[in-house]
Amino acid sequence: MDKLVIEGGYPLSGTVGIHGAKNAALPILAASLLANGEVQIRNVPNLLDIQVMIGILRRLGCNVSYEQQAVKVDASTLSTTVIPEDLMKQMRSSIFLMGPLLAKYGEVTVYQPGGCAIGERKIDLHLDGLRALGAEIIEQSEQITCRASRLTGADIHLEFPSVGATENIMMAAVLAEGRTTITNAAREPEIQDLQRFLNTMGAQVIGAGTDTITITGVKSLQSCSYGIIPDRIVAGTIMIAAAATRGNVTLTGCNPGHISSLLHVLRRAGVQINACNDIIKVSCMTRPKPVGRIVTSPYPSFPTDLQSQVMVLLSLADGFSIMKETVFESRFKHVHELNVMGADISVDANAALIRGVPRLYGATVEATDLRAGAALVIAGLAAQGRTVVEQVHHIDRGYDRLELLFQSLGAKMLRQSVVPEELDFAN
Ligand code: UD1
Repeated sequence: MDKLVIEGGYPLSGTVGIHGAKNAALPILAASLLANGEVQIRNVPNLLDIQVMIGILRRLGCNVSYEQQAVKVDASTLSTTVIPEDLMKQMRSSIFLMGPLLAKYGEVTVYQPGGCAIGERKIDLHLDGLRALGAEIIEQSEQITCRASRLTGADIHLEFPSVGATENIMMAAVLAEGRTTITNAAREPEIQDLQRFLNTMGAQVIGAGTDTITITGVKSLQSCSYGIIPDRIVAGTIMIAAAATRGNVTLTGCNPGHISSLLHVLRRAGVQINACNDIIKVSCMTRPKPVGRIVTSPYPSFPTDLQSQVMVLLSLADGFSIMKETVFESRFKHVHELNVMGADISVDANAALIRGVPRLYGATVEATDLRAGAALVIAGLAAQGRTVVEQVHHIDRGYDRLELLFQSLGAKMLRQSVVPEELDFAN
């Protein structure tokens, strides 16, 4: 129940390195179950979601260590294929364990992860994909059991290029008999990272990064050592914060090619960007310009995971912009909080009309989800006065101690641990 307290109005400045990608690490940790032998995964960020995934792997009986951003997983001691319901409810991404457990052990039981703050988030495409590979799926209220003595390759067309469904099907198909083709597959960089990881273990997967992925099943996969790609959403969040505070920041160890849609939007907003190899320099000395219309959609279009953060920058622009959200149905909860801070944003169905204001003002606001929370932190850094962001555990799911990162760039920002009221003996 921590809070972040931010004294706004100070331009960010300095150099910062980018940690490994949460959305690549989660499926890769799940896929490590597929190997016969120990797998070492490097550049794994220290985040709440990663701790939950490691917790699940341990509860399944795996031997897992995590030291200095490196996770070692040995699944030879696995004792159950039932994902504990409490952990499943804590993190939707536990759904990634379905494909690997089914492929390797012939059975898996999970619980409906349910919707979340940003939308309904169904798993029908995951289940349809596994069914197409030959799994029998038994749904009993919240519990879902998938069984298959042997999976068989199939042609699977996704109605929507779901990131998670693409990954789950890839992880199940690597040990299936014959060839699987996924069409209208998601093309995110994290899917390419998963392909590289699976192939490092001996799988035969081609096409990740395009809309058609072909997987030729193999008999078994071996241990390996693998390094995760940098987190493009963390990189994007820092760049937007640098621009919103009219700062001057250098990001190292990132991949500019993974965020070209953001670079394009920031340049339209008048932000100076210099990208070379794995380094991006961002600076913004003047009020941002409005950018017209941005539409979030699957990669390589503008990512939904940077929608709320960019909205902060546009709320400070000299004119109107429109943000249309097409990936999740209720991802505008930060708008209310930004308006409390003085922004002028109105929402009509899945579009937000952002009228730029000269400045934001500090206020007490609540992080309703991970990226909404990151947006409020950026707003607090840019605002005049003090901002308190509550419900920081949402932010901790995807950013490794965001306050330390921004402090290293000169931000006046502290974490305040909140003792639950009933335990606060001082009151
Ligand atoms: C992943 C990312 C998340 C990102 C999202 C979209 C991870 C751990 N998370 O989430 O940060 O915001 O991609 O880029 O990688 N859908 C269905 N049925 C399904 C699956 C999805 O209808 O079976 C719908 C969802 O409700 C949503 C849309 O498809 O509206 C996109 O979901 P998806 O691409 O699957 O996102 P996730 O994998 O959950």
